[in-house]
Amino acid sequence: MSTIGFGVIGCGGISNVHLTALSKRDDARIVCVSDINPDAARGQAEKYGAGKWVTDANELLAMPEVNAVVVCTPTFLHPEYVIAAAKAGKHVLCEKPIAMTLEDADRMIAACDEAGVFFMIAFVRRFCNEWLKLREIIQSGVLGRPVLWRGVSGSSGPRSPWFLDAQKGGGPFIDGCVHDWDFARFTFGEPEVVLASVRHMKEGDSTSLDTGSAIVRFQSGDELMRSWTWGLPGTACRTQSLSDVIGPKGALRFPGAPAQGSKTNSFILTDGEGVEHALEYEHTIGQEWFDAQMDHFVTCIKEGRQPSVTGLDGKKALAIALAVLEAGRTHKPVVLG
Ligand SMILES: NC(=O)c1ccc[n+]([C@@H]2O[C@H](COP(=O)([O-])OP(=O)(O)OC[C@H]3O[C@@H](n4cnc5c(N)ncnc54)[C@H](O)[C@@H]3O)[C@@H](O)[C@H]2O)c1
Repeated sequence: MSTIGFGVIGCGGISNVHLTALSKRDDARIVCVSDINPDAARGQAEKYGAGKWVTDANELLAMPEVNAVVVCTPTFLHPEYVIAAAKAGKHVLCEKPIAMTLEDADRMIAACDEAGVFFMIAFVRRFCNEWLKLREIIQSGVLGRPVLWRGVSGSSGPRSPWFLDAQKGGGPFIDGCVHDWDFARFTFGEPEVVLASVRHMKEGDSTSLDTGSAIVRFQSGDELMRSWTWGLPGTACRTQSLSDVIGPKGALRFPGAPAQGSKTNSFILTDGEGVEHALEYEHTIGQEWFDAQMDHFVTCIKEGRQPSVTGLDGKKALAIALAVLEAGRTHKPVVLG
């Protein structure tokens, strides 16, 4: 298969980066896009040169020239479209988080296995130089092990209301934080126990737990301590995001913005003598991560090999998210199997 025909289901914010990545490739063609909102579907088809647009994703899935799909709908709809795509014999790149429940994640994985199609979850950090450099530094042992990775983020939350609906998007501990749950697993190995305090803070009619802190301890002894809110007022309020990693041999500061026009950036390691060392990496911008992710997915389809980020990775990251919510609700540690 020299050119892979793509369909994109869901034409909201995140579809732009996938459609941009696809439109740059000679070995991929955007056959059709789909959205229940006809203006969104038509708009993306015109912007990215898709041959067709539809409001019923089943029409897209019935097209023989569509070999693979990117599922970019709100999270609670991922299972429906991933399973339908698998039954139609299409390879699937599905946005994170995989689903809202582990049972749905199992059904999606089983459907793709049974159909013999590839199923990749879009954990884009795994294709970003900055995050890969962080993993390399931790795994090199320069900080000693085990380490404690600490992170704080805060904002009013995404604009689409479904993100803060407990049944549809699940709030930040299922949505935004799932990148952290996955990347920590990718770096530290399997999780062991979760402690958390979570609450609902946002005024209005949102239903998800939107604010809190979690500690995830891994079997390696490494820990992730994550504090996040989407409970700030209005739609545009943000706090500074802060993150560092501390270990028995040193402390690691995350890079700030690189110098204007610079192609490199650095983490700063402070050693036991108080000396700072710049650990440099090649700086890439957001779209380049999505380009690299799409490159991996397309290459895997062409070469007939399993993508490096699987449905099972999606399920395991979701399991951590659900454990955080349970630990927060019960005020008890949740032990992960
Ligand atoms: N990788 C990342 O960093 C990242 C960033 C943002 C969002 N996401 C994920 O991408 C997914 C979509 O997020 P978004 O920001 O694009 O949301 P969005 O609200 O901007 O867009 C969702 C789109 O889906 C459409 N839609 C709703 N119901 C549909 C249906 N039944 N069939 C087809 N289309 C339907 C909506 O009309 C809308 O155009 C979510 O799972 C989200 O968590 C990932």
